[in-house]
Amino acid sequence: MDKLIIRGGNRLSGTIPISGAKNAALTLIPCALLTEEAVTLRNLPRLADIDGFQHLMNQFGVTTAIQGTRPEDFGRTMRLEATRITSSVAPYDLVRKMRASILVLGPMLARAGEATVSMPGGCAIGNRPIDLHLKAIEAFGAQIELTQGYVKAIAPDGGLPGGDFDFPVVSVGATENALMTAVLANGTSRLFNAAREPEIVDLCNLLVAMGAEIEGIGTSDLTIHGVKRLNGATYAVMPDRIEAGSYACAAAITGGAVRLEGAKANDMQATIHALRSIGVEVGEDAKGVDIATPGALSPVDLTTAPYPGLATDMQAQLMSLLCKADGASVLKETIFENRFMHVPELARMGADISTEGRTAIVKGPSSLTGAEVMATDLRASMSLIIAALAAEGETTVRRIYHLDRGYERLEEKLQLVGADIERVDD
Ligand code: EPZ
Repeated sequence: MDKLIIRGGNRLSGTIPISGAKNAALTLIPCALLTEEAVTLRNLPRLADIDGFQHLMNQFGVTTAIQGTRPEDFGRTMRLEATRITSSVAPYDLVRKMRASILVLGPMLARAGEATVSMPGGCAIGNRPIDLHLKAIEAFGAQIELTQGYVKAIAPDGGLPGGDFDFPVVSVGATENALMTAVLANGTSRLFNAAREPEIVDLCNLLVAMGAEIEGIGTSDLTIHGVKRLNGATYAVMPDRIEAGSYACAAAITGGAVRLEGAKANDMQATIHALRSIGVEVGEDAKGVDIATPGALSPVDLTTAPYPGLATDMQAQLMSLLCKADGASVLKETIFENRFMHVPELARMGADISTEGRTAIVKGPSSLTGAEVMATDLRASMSLIIAALAAEGETTVRRIYHLDRGYERLEEKLQLVGADIERVDD
């Protein structure tokens, strides 16, 4: 099992290339099920979850080919061809390793008329129910059965009629499954209170490129006019706004100046606003985002919310940064019930953080010291790396497979800007 060793204190400076967005790629890949023609996705990040999804697609009889496998390649191209579907079952042993597999339910149902997917189960940050995925698909006319830990969705003969669904809670994944179901329904479907994350817009853009008819893209009210068939397309995945925000926090906590090449400022305005309130200088241009940290950091109060609010996926990273602010900050996590797993690990590095339910109070500035810490979930792990970069001494982070799920070549990218970080065999 690998671990990362970080010796803190270096001021980061230089350029970090931002990869394609994991959370966009994981919903674009299953779109290949919606057509017999080839779907080619460019700018895919080199991540375990992407490889896992490719394997899952192969299970269904989808042929896949990857270009750009040389070590020096950033961004890969994957060609998927679902000419024939040989199975509509997503088995437990694959789904349990990657929750996002639930995103094959909608497109498989739309294409094959039925889909059987293992229930994904919970994870470190919450029990992650899928009731809204199922309610939306039922609203479009599907029959849903739950048996032996599997969800089975069946379309009526003649295909799904389509329908309306009003989301009681904003859900990214349920919105994605609903969209990928409605595009091939017989009639028109409407979604209300749908998620508006940039990853949803990326999904809509690919579906439209494949011939789907979607109105209201980027808003919370979406109208989808079902079409008989979709064609293939070639599409480049959007840049990862959470990766970019994470490296912005890494640069800022070291008092550094870093360019996030390829980052799309427009996708991360809430994060940029938070960073500027903390005292970080953020420059925006068409090709990237520039981070500079001239002076002291100020405490701020932050609350996570569905887009365009502050991303829950940025909460842990900003908490680490706020450990160095001059004063107390209050962070409220409104999306997931257990997303403070990084707090006890940060405390072991000298952070002064108290939590009460979904509220955390961060008192700074703390003089962080290196420690042996353990990664628990993807973004919590990144918050430990960020703290370690500013800590006195050496930090060892274990269980970094969590990190490898969401951050392509993490240590290489940080080494590019002067971090003293190495990956070693545990
Ligand atoms: C996506 O998860 C992302 N994952 C998450 O990123 C991200 O944190 C989350 O959206 C919120 O932005 C991917 O895109 C692969 P939700 P998702 O459905 O779709 C509740 C990361 O670190 N809910 O928007 O699972 C749910 O419990 C990961 O990259 C239901 O109640 O999130 C949560 O409280 C972590 N019923 C809230 O909605 C449902 O059927 C938002 O969840 C579905 C969700």
